[in-house]
Amino acid sequence: MLQMVQKRFLQIARNIPEMRQFRNNLERSKTVGFVPTMGALHSGHLSLIERATKENDFVIASIFVNPTQFSAGEDLDKYPRTVEKDLEMLRSLNVNYVFLPSTSEIYGTNPLCHVEPAAFSKIYEGAKRPNFFSGVATIVCKLFNIVQPTVSYFGQKDISQFILLRRMVDDLNIPVIVKASPTLREADGLAMSSRNVYLNEKERVASSILVKALQAAVDTCELSSTGSTSSTEMIDAARNILAQEPLVSEIQYISVASPHDMSELSTANTQDGAVISAAIKVGSVRLIDNLLVGQAKKIIYGF
Ligand code: PAF
Repeated sequence: MLQMVQKRFLQIARNIPEMRQFRNNLERSKTVGFVPTMGALHSGHLSLIERATKENDFVIASIFVNPTQFSAGEDLDKYPRTVEKDLEMLRSLNVNYVFLPSTSEIYGTNPLCHVEPAAFSKIYEGAKRPNFFSGVATIVCKLFNIVQPTVSYFGQKDISQFILLRRMVDDLNIPVIVKASPTLREADGLAMSSRNVYLNEKERVASSILVKALQAAVDTCELSSTGSTSSTEMIDAARNILAQEPLVSEIQYISVASPHDMSELSTANTQDGAVISAAIKVGSVRLIDNLLVGQAKKIIYGF
């Protein structure tokens, strides 16, 4: 009965005590699925929420544009903020509670402690975005402590974020199951992202080159007679495709990495699996995407 009443209304918590009270009122035997977001919700988020709804008794989402994961010169100020529209979407999806805190509610003044995933500052995405992984690990750790979910859902699109968070709960003994869901794509293959709104019409068309380049790299490995190939060959295959699109203004990195910890691999094989990921700029818009090679699918999804 409680569940039916809760499922009918989206309740909003703007501070930590309210969020904790809602959580404490739920029977401990019930499962809580949690989808943390920075808002500007798109179909990718909605699919995470739908999955959380199917797999859990209660669903909590959060909307918080986390300043600590942005580095100087990134798009913190212009990051799309569409809270009213987001709340409408969450209402239509049977989400029970949304946590919508302010920055001061989350960080207070002068916090002393944060989570520092040292090895991740050395991977390509970490080098390009120096604050990103520490900011993400810290906010997700805080959200897990506040919301205390059973399971939390993240998109494969931010694969290094997902691998980091799965390692974080393991390394720090945080009792939350971290699950990945496949990247949702537009009809031409472009990975859905809140930042796609920055693309103009021509850039939007050009952007589908990224997944094609990654697929060429995957094929180089998966279709080879041994199921094994050097990372250089895979990266060259991706570069050759990207070179065909004049609107690609920068290739920040193309990486072939371990699905366990995103450490770089010199060769990839289908048996051990690999993650091929890239960050490029189309015009001035930064895009990231990744595909999984061979057994990496089993490692990321568990089946
Ligand atoms: O993927 C995102 O939207 C963010 O990095 C997250 C996980 C909500 C943390 O701010």
